[in-house]
Amino acid sequence: MIEVKNLVRTFKSGDRTIKPVNDVSFELEQGTLASIVGKSGSGKSTLLSLLGALDKPTSGDVLVNGVGLAGMPDSKLTEYRRRDIGFVFQQFNLIPNLSAVDNVMLPMEFAGIRKAARLERARELLEQVQLDPEKHVRRINRLSGGEQQRVAIARALANSPN
Ligand SMILES: Nc1ncnc2c1ncn2[C@@H]1O[C@H](COP(=O)(O)OP(=O)(O)OP(=O)(O)O)[C@@H](O)[C@H]1O
Ligand SMILES: [Mg+2]
Repeated sequence: MIEVKNLVRTFKSGDRTIKPVNDVSFELEQGTLASIVGKSGSGKSTLLSLLGALDKPTSGDVLVNGVGLAGMPDSKLTEYRRRDIGFVFQQFNLIPNLSAVDNVMLPMEFAGIRKAARLERARELLEQVQLDPEKHVRRINRLSGGEQQRVAIARALANSPN
């Protein structure tokens, strides 16, 4: 049985703090099949990372068969991940330490388009896929899976005029 108690995970984004997991509580009995549903960027992967002990909460706890992950030593957490958790990750083929806009500009650079035009087109494409403007300059590995997929779509469109 999994008990999620008042789970909170915040991220700093510049001078703002976002709370994708904001006081979440629920229980799952053994043998239950559950889905987490929500729009892109709403906090699904953040929550799953906490359930799988891939990330630590800002506050709150996850109890697995009565034992809290928050108080578990790293050696026990490693055992928990290995023994009890199966994860399928979201896949993308973006360059993780470049920003969203730099990833979209890259194919245009290879195509010889000059810098100002690359930047303008990349921003337009990222707007078309509805990535928040403040996330255009964020490093890829600090975006959600769906946000990264949208960057990948924008990049795929970068060099095709029609
Ligand atoms: N490491 C990070 N640093 C800062 N913000 C982050 C980080 N990881 C995720 N975020 C932000 O937290 C929010 C929730 O991200 P999360 O990955 O949980 O979304 P999601 O519901 O899984 O979305 P998707 O359906 O797109 O995969 C998003 O706004 C995302 O930009
Ligand atoms: Mg996700």
